[in-house]
Amino acid sequence: MSRPTAGPRHLLSVADLGRDGIREILRLGDSFAEVNTRAIPKVPALRGRTVASLFFEDSTRTRLSFETAAKRLSADTVTFSAGGSSLSKGESLRDTSQTVAALGVDCVVVRHRSAGVASQLSRWLDCSVINAGDGRHEHPTQALLDCYTIRSRLGDVEGRRVAVVGDIAHSRVARSLVAALQALDAEVTLVAPATLLPPAVDSWKVAVSSRLDDVLPRADVVYLLRLQRERQDAALLPSLREFHERFGLSAERVARLADHAIVMHPGPMNRGVEIGAEVPEMHCATITEQVANGVAIRMAVLFRLLGSGAAAEAAASAPSGTRRTAQPADSVPADPAPGARRD
Ligand code: NCD
Repeated sequence: MSRPTAGPRHLLSVADLGRDGIREILRLGDSFAEVNTRAIPKVPALRGRTVASLFFEDSTRTRLSFETAAKRLSADTVTFSAGGSSLSKGESLRDTSQTVAALGVDCVVVRHRSAGVASQLSRWLDCSVINAGDGRHEHPTQALLDCYTIRSRLGDVEGRRVAVVGDIAHSRVARSLVAALQALDAEVTLVAPATLLPPAVDSWKVAVSSRLDDVLPRADVVYLLRLQRERQDAALLPSLREFHERFGLSAERVARLADHAIVMHPGPMNRGVEIGAEVPEMHCATITEQVANGVAIRMAVLFRLLGSGAAAEAAASAPSGTRRTAQPADSVPADPAPGARRD
């Protein structure tokens, strides 16, 4: 199976992208968001490519989002779920992932409860690897779709004051988001009780507060995190009710936000805990926009990793005389004329 000859092969963490890589994906995201508004939201960019999702941990939106993105790029998809697989017969992670890769896939999208699995797979497999969440380590595509959502609601990420609230210690979303926001020059404040802050929080180079009410009036973005109990190994909170009273974004607290401020959440939400039951339906909340933007951003990520190789391969296999170098614009018109839609 041929791979892209130039450019990045994997997306394991936000640091793999840097500021320019993040900006490039946000720009590509605009083109794919346009594709997603078409009557037939599909382009042939990854025709002939195969994307496998390897989810060893539960997921609703991330998995469906990657699969939708791959299909809209005309890639074939292969799906693996830990339940119902040979893992229950004692097969190792390495053997399972190499079996899936041997089907001839170009890209593996992996989620696993252990930090470092995506990076390990990138060493074992001869295909691209995208980290869709590894333990409490990173979740880079979530950070990208969140930055895209901030940019589409507020115009730009730079200089925006973002409060990240809740269980930061166990959150891969927070780690990737803070890295992406810092790369784009936003101002980040972590808001949490001391027990839910990461041990090395000083090295994150962000402001820290335990008083949500002090932070709200200045925030442009309030980003709420679920209590990730599956990753907590001790009782870190007196009670859910007390957590909600101190750190939950109730409708009364929303009233203290600036008019332009937005409320974000990666999902899944626990209504009545980190977010007031009625807040997700308020205009300031971007939760369903985040999900919709996630498809465009994952199309951008897949296209960036696999697209140029696909184009080169298509050009090489075209009959002589018809051979030409395929361009991203073949699939993603930058400024598509009405009526000139491709599918
Ligand atoms: C997050 C995850 O799985 O890391 N959800 C997501 O991908 N949208 C956050 C969470 O589980 O709380």
